[in-house]
Amino acid sequence: MSDGTTPAVDVALFGALGDLALRKLYVALYHLDREGLMHEETRILGLARQEYDIDAFRARVRDALESRVPGDERTEETLTRFLDRLAYIQLEFDATEGYRQISQWHGHNSHPLTVYLSVPARLYGEICSNLSQTGCLDSESRVVVEKPIGYDLESSREINDAIGAVFDESRIYRIDHYLGKETVQNLLALRFANPLFGNQWNQNQISHVEITVAETVGIEGRWGYFDQAGQLRDMVQNHLMQLLCMIAMDPPSNLDADSIRDEKVKVLKALRPIEGERLNTDVVRGQYVAGTSGGKQVPGYLEEEGANTDSRTETFVAFKTEVSNWRWAGVPFYLRTGKRMPEKLSQIVIHFRQQSHYIFDPDQRGMASNKLIIRLQPDEGIALQVLTKDSGLDKGMRLRTGPLHLDFHQAFPSTRIPDAYERLLLEVMKGQQYLFVRRDEIEYAWRWVDTLIAGWEARDMPPKRYPAGSWGPVSSIAMITQDGRSWYEDY
Ligand code: BG6
Repeated sequence: MSDGTTPAVDVALFGALGDLALRKLYVALYHLDREGLMHEETRILGLARQEYDIDAFRARVRDALESRVPGDERTEETLTRFLDRLAYIQLEFDATEGYRQISQWHGHNSHPLTVYLSVPARLYGEICSNLSQTGCLDSESRVVVEKPIGYDLESSREINDAIGAVFDESRIYRIDHYLGKETVQNLLALRFANPLFGNQWNQNQISHVEITVAETVGIEGRWGYFDQAGQLRDMVQNHLMQLLCMIAMDPPSNLDADSIRDEKVKVLKALRPIEGERLNTDVVRGQYVAGTSGGKQVPGYLEEEGANTDSRTETFVAFKTEVSNWRWAGVPFYLRTGKRMPEKLSQIVIHFRQQSHYIFDPDQRGMASNKLIIRLQPDEGIALQVLTKDSGLDKGMRLRTGPLHLDFHQAFPSTRIPDAYERLLLEVMKGQQYLFVRRDEIEYAWRWVDTLIAGWEARDMPPKRYPAGSWGPVSSIAMITQDGRSWYEDY
């Protein structure tokens, strides 16, 4: 089925039996098919090391769909239609022989070969080169790659060079799944379609900005990977930097991919590094110890399965930075993200400045400012905290604060909010890059992160402990209170 606007593609999915594919990718592709957003001729080729025949592969994908797609969103007909699109080839990624079968399967029909690399980044270069050598690719082929791209600036350059030796930048889709989230996209509409906000979005009107991305999960069997990365590389270098860019960027001249990405790069270039004395005052790293999560006792990071008990890797980081440009000079951006927090919450809070001429009760002056709260997950929505007169004859002109609230689920009840991967895969099929990260964005983000890590290493600064189920080390609260502010709390 086709909506007439999504072109047909041949998807070659490397890592077809991996965790991401089984948890997210088939579900997202299935939804696109079910909603009529996938061209009827689109086909999906699974590629993995395991010896599966096509029936066993389809059965595995069916299991994944049946356990993840709610019953009222699937029928035998929709499942079968999707599963019929699938093919499977067993492949050793480092041996060129198998790649010729990909070429045969694709047969150089007119549908672009769309290679999805859901495998570790160290394999990207080799796979791309094998695809090229065996004649699988043509000028229309695309590649989709997952984070993390590298471990630091240098390793990310090596990986990007290897991909770039085969694919032109205009054919590379680097995923940051936060850019596919509904509310993250809404930031563009909110900022650039509403003059009300557009005109206020600068240092004259905004006092500070908070970004919180909190997770309840711990390490979930990924200790080996996570311990090499830590929360700064795993979450800040990509997801939080992208959110910061969406909040701080100047209006792009249009919605073209490069217009948007040019503006994001300017923000990353202007981001003040944390170094020198700021390492003591502007950043806090933490590591969780045993505590309670979701009403259950949970182990500390160093007691998780596979843990190296001396690890100093951070599972939490909070910091203060500034975008040193005309629009934002003097406006602190406070960011924090951690594992094993009390709830899963991704939220941006824009704090507007107080009225300069204030005429109400002097003792209420502290509350007399507006906040815009943008909730990315869960319960996607936007709330504007406004001040009104408190009701009641005895209240005089006392003020109270209350939200003007847009809850996406309530406002658009019949609309299912699509998972980020659905939107991203749809954009890949359409050949649109604006939700994907350009090479220079990744490299400027790494530059900033590398400076911070070098500072931590030079000072040999261990992470501070925090109990699982808390909002991080106490010093992350002190970091903001020393500026006379607090993290927004209205969970
Ligand atoms: C991934 C990180 O990129 O994002 C994980 O590697 C993290 O550690 C996940 O848990 C969070 O994504 P979401 O969409 O659940 O907020």
